[in-house]
Amino acid sequence: MTAFPKTSALMRRGAEFLGSDYAILCGAMSWVSERNLVAAISNGGGFGVIACGAMTPDLLDAEIAGTKALTDKPFGVNLITMHPMLFDLIEVCKRHQVGHVVLAGGIPPKGSVEAIKEFGGKVLVFAPTLALAKKLLRSGADALVIEGSEAGGHIGPVATSVLAQEFLPELAADHIVFVAGGIGTGEMIAAYREMGASGVQLGTRFACATESIAHPDFKKAFFRANARDAVASVQIDPRLPVIPVRALKNKGTEEFTAKQREVAQKLDDGKLDMGAAQLEIEHFWAGALRRAVIDGDVESGSVMAGQSVGMVKAEEPAAQIIQTLMQECETALSRA
Ligand SMILES: Cc1cc2nc3c(=O)[nH]c(=O)nc-3n(C[C@H](O)[C@H](O)[C@H](O)COP(=O)(O)O)c2cc1C
Repeated sequence: MTAFPKTSALMRRGAEFLGSDYAILCGAMSWVSERNLVAAISNGGGFGVIACGAMTPDLLDAEIAGTKALTDKPFGVNLITMHPMLFDLIEVCKRHQVGHVVLAGGIPPKGSVEAIKEFGGKVLVFAPTLALAKKLLRSGADALVIEGSEAGGHIGPVATSVLAQEFLPELAADHIVFVAGGIGTGEMIAAYREMGASGVQLGTRFACATESIAHPDFKKAFFRANARDAVASVQIDPRLPVIPVRALKNKGTEEFTAKQREVAQKLDDGKLDMGAAQLEIEHFWAGALRRAVIDGDVESGSVMAGQSVGMVKAEEPAAQIIQTLMQECETALSRA
């Protein structure tokens, strides 16, 4: 008899797909989602995902091996589709017989979904629109993550609640769909579950778990912050594209605005050509997430966090966070 009968029954399909006790994924977070946090999530009954980010195949190989040494539970690997060595990274996943690969950061390039499925891996993809989601599911993706703009990190323009209304009625009966973005409590998990989601993905809520290697100052910044402190980066000049990222506002975010103004002025004055100007903007945040997470530079680094950051108040073991979420979800479902 499970401790959470209603939740477990509703999560069965998602949990079976993941091979975990609960259909709660900890979304990959670059620098944060390494072996310690990933293993702690999976050992706690959730599903941990290694953030490959810009790692080389050798580094990914070591990270997967290190994770396997800490857990015998299933976990996944998140690969960024524009990584120049994507297919070598897939080869590493194959060698380790990784059960689930999440393809993030754009439309999966030709052959990538097939290469993962060929070795028996399951493929999870993100899709910003319903039409693209249907196309990806038709062409072999096994599951979908829909992620709203409340989330931490790189974001799209549409709120999770709206995506859920658009995608779930159309897809949830026949497909595995996980909902992400702005989920901080089990009540919210219950709501998306009742709308048909197979499960959920959280990042912000897990970033400061006891097992997370994030710097103590990074964690302190999370504990102090409220929802309104987690702001999306703003583009101020139509000629200079900015990919929106949600992070805690700090000196770095102010300097980014000033930088955009300065570069736009140089463009106007003919001191920079368009290519060089766009590159200056693109390079502004290079290494900034690492500086915040690993070095604890929360002033000029990029403290990526979602709007649910206000619900993160203290360090807790990952397993305890998962139990709290499950209990809250169960209570909400029982009330209904
Ligand atoms: C610090 C941080 C780093 C992240 N890095 C990545 C990443 O490398 N790849 C990715 O697909 N998503 C990344 N995300 C998004 C998470 O995987 C997850 O989908 C998101 O945090 C869920 O929304 P929430 O923050 O509202 O819980 C990151 C999120 C955070 C907070």
